[in-house]
Amino acid sequence: MSDASWPRSAAVIGVGTMGGGFAQLLALAGIATRVADSSPELAAAGRERAVEGARRFEVDGLMAAGAADTIAAQLTAATSIEDAVADADFVIEAIREDPATKRDAFAVIERAAPGGAVIATNTSAIPIRDLAGAFRDGTRFLGTHWFNPPQWVPCVEVIPGPDTSDAVVERVHGLMRRLGKQPTTVGDAGGFVANRIQFAMFKEAVSVVADGVATPEQVDEVVRASFGFRLPFFGPFKIADMAGLDVYDGAYRALEQDLGERFAVPAPVAQMVADGRLGTKAGAGFFDTPPDELPRLTAGRDRSYAALSKLLEELDR
Ligand SMILES: NC(=O)c1ccc[n+]([C@@H]2O[C@H](COP(=O)([O-])OP(=O)(O)OC[C@H]3O[C@@H](n4cnc5c(N)ncnc54)[C@H](O)[C@@H]3O)[C@@H](O)[C@H]2O)c1
Repeated sequence: MSDASWPRSAAVIGVGTMGGGFAQLLALAGIATRVADSSPELAAAGRERAVEGARRFEVDGLMAAGAADTIAAQLTAATSIEDAVADADFVIEAIREDPATKRDAFAVIERAAPGGAVIATNTSAIPIRDLAGAFRDGTRFLGTHWFNPPQWVPCVEVIPGPDTSDAVVERVHGLMRRLGKQPTTVGDAGGFVANRIQFAMFKEAVSVVADGVATPEQVDEVVRASFGFRLPFFGPFKIADMAGLDVYDGAYRALEQDLGERFAVPAPVAQMVADGRLGTKAGAGFFDTPPDELPRLTAGRDRSYAALSKLLEELDR
């Protein structure tokens, strides 16, 4: 039931860093959007920031001419959460990352919103099941985890809770696509996919600095220009397949010897190496790569990397 006329109206609860971006995107899509915050004054200030921010985006050529006027026309500040959600088909919560505060807000939202409204949370890392208990009707509640700044970062992780209906998931996917986003449904575990990986990487980056291996500046320089450079095109599994899982196996053994057990070869990788599934060079790894596809993959990779090098040089100038 993905439907281009849904939602007619929306509410953003918490119009800070993330909520301000949601408000801009929803309003820009022609959806009447009301914002609420801890006080009417904060809601009005948040609305103003969203409109003024869009004017700057327009001047910088990041939003089309007229975008800020469209946003101003569709966006209104509410006096309370109840006021914001009273007529909303879609509600997105973006208040601070505290389970109790969010649960309190959900109780108010569920009481005041129309029965058919879909309610989403933008929590970064709280499992959706831990928040779903706040709802009498969990079928219409789910996580939509966006990335800052939400206007430009494509991904939205869509996380169904224990009771979310399939129809609600489908509707939200449709809305995210309409807002120009790239929704991916993922499972409900702390940090979901992106933050679990991102925070694990950051923890290791902090250890690299604590161990005196590199400064924060050096870590950032190396990460951006090495594996970070590839990430716009390939995820970790594709990269591992292209590097060779036997190469990873050998690297993990060396890492474990120097840095300890947390770097032991992951069991599924060891098994795949034992089975000869070494990645693209063997035609199979985490993905199947038929031999006739390999030249196309390599040529596409080289074109993409060369184009990114050029873009980064241009942006540097
Ligand atoms: N900033 C990020 O990079 C990012 C990315 C993804 C997800 N998130 C998540 O999005 C949520 C919001 O984060 P943010 O960075 O926009 O925070 P923020 O502090 O910029 O904004 C939060 C807003 O919520 C308001 N607020 C707080 N308690 C409220 C309440 N009880 N009722 C109504 N409004 C209330 C605050 O006044 C503020 O305007 C958090 O759950 C966070 O983890 C943040």
